[in-house]
Amino acid sequence: MSSFPDVRPRRLRRSAAIRRLVEENRVAPAELVLPMFVKEGLTEPRPIASMPGVVQHSRESLRKAAAEAVHAGIGGIMLFGVPERKDETGSGGIDPDGILNVAIRDVVAEVGDGTVVMSDVCLDEFTSHGHCGLIAPDGTVDNDATLAAYAEMAVAQADAGAHLLGPSGMMDGQVGVIRRALDAAGHTDAGILAYAVKYASAFYGPFREAVESTLQGDRRTYQQDPANLRDSLREVRLDVAEGADLVMVKPGLPYLDVIAAVRDEVDVPVAAYQISGEYSMVEAAAANGWIDRERAILETLTSIRRAGAQIILTYWAVEAARLLRERY
Ligand code: PBG
Repeated sequence: MSSFPDVRPRRLRRSAAIRRLVEENRVAPAELVLPMFVKEGLTEPRPIASMPGVVQHSRESLRKAAAEAVHAGIGGIMLFGVPERKDETGSGGIDPDGILNVAIRDVVAEVGDGTVVMSDVCLDEFTSHGHCGLIAPDGTVDNDATLAAYAEMAVAQADAGAHLLGPSGMMDGQVGVIRRALDAAGHTDAGILAYAVKYASAFYGPFREAVESTLQGDRRTYQQDPANLRDSLREVRLDVAEGADLVMVKPGLPYLDVIAAVRDEVDVPVAAYQISGEYSMVEAAAANGWIDRERAILETLTSIRRAGAQIILTYWAVEAARLLRERY
């Protein structure tokens, strides 16, 4: 005697054990990357108000936190530097003694090859106007002049020991120019994690506090229009052709369809950046008691993984690694 319904998907959901057995997507600590901020001249870490739990590190606290992150088993660290003084050309980003380059050396000395050390190749943290590139006399962001600066910046970061360079400024040709500069400087083994797809997003708000950005206006003449998808596929094809070793989509959660499309488009590993605003939204809702914080963290990471990102940059990397260990 058969009973209706014959097909009962709930059989595979009846216990935690069976749900674990049939789980389709799982995030591993080794695929999480922790973005970290280091601020020149600090003696103590300084909290970032809009990102509860995230700090601007001092050189000393950065070393310690990097060692802890490696101990937690995460896959990598992405470093951002905040200089004491910003200028028109962002010279602190290129200076071998600038805060980011110094911090790369510190972290490489501390954790060596125990993790993948990545660094942001972009001028916005270092420029007085807050744009990602150099400003032309007519006030626009000068693509080709900026490329020359990125080439120098990338070589300085590779000299400091960074394993992967992350150009995030969305200048046309940035991956190609950096690849050639690295090779010419003998850094053929330094890889490029290209921010291939990067939308002009409102969700970067808290990051701008984290790097003390002075930006007036927006980045819509170089970052992408959130309405577009074909434009993203064009960007990733170009970056792969120019030599990107990995490609990244950013932000994460509002762009899951883009992650999935990019995954289908290319053969290189795909990363996604769960950005500051995504972090702050969950933290703010959780602080109000409106959502279960830990479940929300894992749910967002799993969603980004399900969409097709193999690597996820997230400010929760270390905590999520612990939560994942407890769960599996
Ligand atoms: C540019 C850069 C930004 C982020 C990463 N690299 C800021 C921007 O484009 O405005 C944002 C990351 C985040 O919001 O967490 N150097």
